[in-house]
Amino acid sequence: MSMLLHLDASARRTSFSRTLSRAYADAWLAANPGAGYVHRDLAADPVPHIGEAWTELCDHVLENEITDIARYEEAVLTPARREAWAIVKPLLDEVVAADVVLIGTPMYNFSIPSSLKAWIDQITFPKMSLKGRSFVVTGARGGAYGPGTPREPYDHEERYLRDFFKGHFAVEDVTFVHAELVNARIDPALRHLRDKHEESLATALETVSSLGSETRS
Ligand SMILES: Cc1cc2nc3c(=O)[nH]c(=O)nc-3n(C[C@H](O)[C@H](O)[C@H](O)COP(=O)(O)O)c2cc1C
Repeated sequence: MSMLLHLDASARRTSFSRTLSRAYADAWLAANPGAGYVHRDLAADPVPHIGEAWTELCDHVLENEITDIARYEEAVLTPARREAWAIVKPLLDEVVAADVVLIGTPMYNFSIPSSLKAWIDQITFPKMSLKGRSFVVTGARGGAYGPGTPREPYDHEERYLRDFFKGHFAVEDVTFVHAELVNARIDPALRHLRDKHEESLATALETVSSLGSETRS
């Protein structure tokens, strides 16, 4: 059975990144009847930051050259590590079972929300491969960071996620769709960019719906 893991990280309940991820998920589920689906709201139900016992799990995996995710449990040797593992295991099981990992995320301070970073920190172990999965990121940002824009070099959201998924997880199939210039809706200084924002949003919505319906696992 194919499986979609859907994460959302916006602090807003009604949000553009959530609208886009929802549209992708609806299209994907319609195209993959009977598929598995898990939705995790990282803002409403935050994943805790890693603690010291988590680092012990990580060190054990590294020191013992464990690369098979199914063997991570061998590192659970103390009560503190058991507690840490109880948080990691369900998160890891979800991502390992997924064919597609869908992430709805805002840009916060040129990067990703700490809620999403906390999830990444919990599920990431040394030399861990998630090869073969597709990652789809639906984003929203107040400004514009596309190729050739003055803000392009400040986009540490897409660049970070792309580099991390490829560089650490060996995932090549990563797609980003952003709704840009969202602040034109509220910032009087950006009011003249409202049409560009509407255009960006409409294109992003169309793109995620067609991407979702194309993705058959
Ligand atoms: C804490 C915070 C930080 C933000 N930082 C940026 C930023 O660095 N660059 C940007 O273009 N927009 C920034 N924004 C604007 C958001 O990216 C924008 O509101 C976007 O729509 C949020 O996504 P959402 O609609 O899914 O919540 C920030 C918003 C918040 C609340």
